[in-house]
Amino acid sequence: MTNSTEICIRPATAGDVCAISTILRELGWFNHVNKESPADTKARIAQHLELCNSYESHTVFVAENQNGEVIGYIAVHWLPYLMLAGSEGYISELFVRESDRGKGVGRKLLEVVNEQAIKRGCTRLMLVNGRNRESYKRGFYQKLGWKERQEVTNFVLLLPRKT
Ligand SMILES: CC(C)(COP(=O)(O)OP(=O)(O)OC[C@H]1O[C@@H](n2cnc3c(N)ncnc32)[C@H](O)[C@@H]1OP(=O)(O)O)[C@@H](O)C(=O)NCCC(=O)NCCS
Repeated sequence: MTNSTEICIRPATAGDVCAISTILRELGWFNHVNKESPADTKARIAQHLELCNSYESHTVFVAENQNGEVIGYIAVHWLPYLMLAGSEGYISELFVRESDRGKGVGRKLLEVVNEQAIKRGCTRLMLVNGRNRESYKRGFYQKLGWKERQEVTNFVLLLPRKT
């Protein structure tokens, strides 16, 4: 059982790779993750986390419970847009372990990112939320003051993977 007052939010380190990998694999949302071995998931997370931690422009935080278990994480990328008055913080991942959802962990991870964004002089935070997701249906972000932008849509161009 987790209570939000017992949660510690700290920067992710290489020692968190296994826990992050477990959270992502448990989620089951990504085909490539579902198909690959746990070792491959860990190897990619280790590589990408190392990359994130090598630059000031990326931050990954983990949420740790009283027992020292990592139960969620958030990744944010600080984007210095030429057209904006201040940088934008783009939240690319926010995932909480299924057994620990609904206990304030996600809110706490977002609060810490919010504080960082203000310290960095950012003018906004941004994220993409699938309309079919439980978080969207329950208005998770709206309840925390986020505004849904009706005037924009989200495009992706899928690229062939390097072999
Ligand atoms: C969405 C998510 C990050 C929220 O974190 P959380 O720790 O569960 O949320 P908190 O306890 O801080 O806040 C409670 C709110 O979270 C949402 N929530 C609660 N349980 C949830 C669940 N099982 N799944 C999705 N959202 C849930 C609800 O909006 C809830 O508010 P409500 O009880 O008034 O309906 C987390 O539930 C999660 O990882 N879900 C699956 C992955 C996901 O959707 N990530 C976001 C992609 S943009």
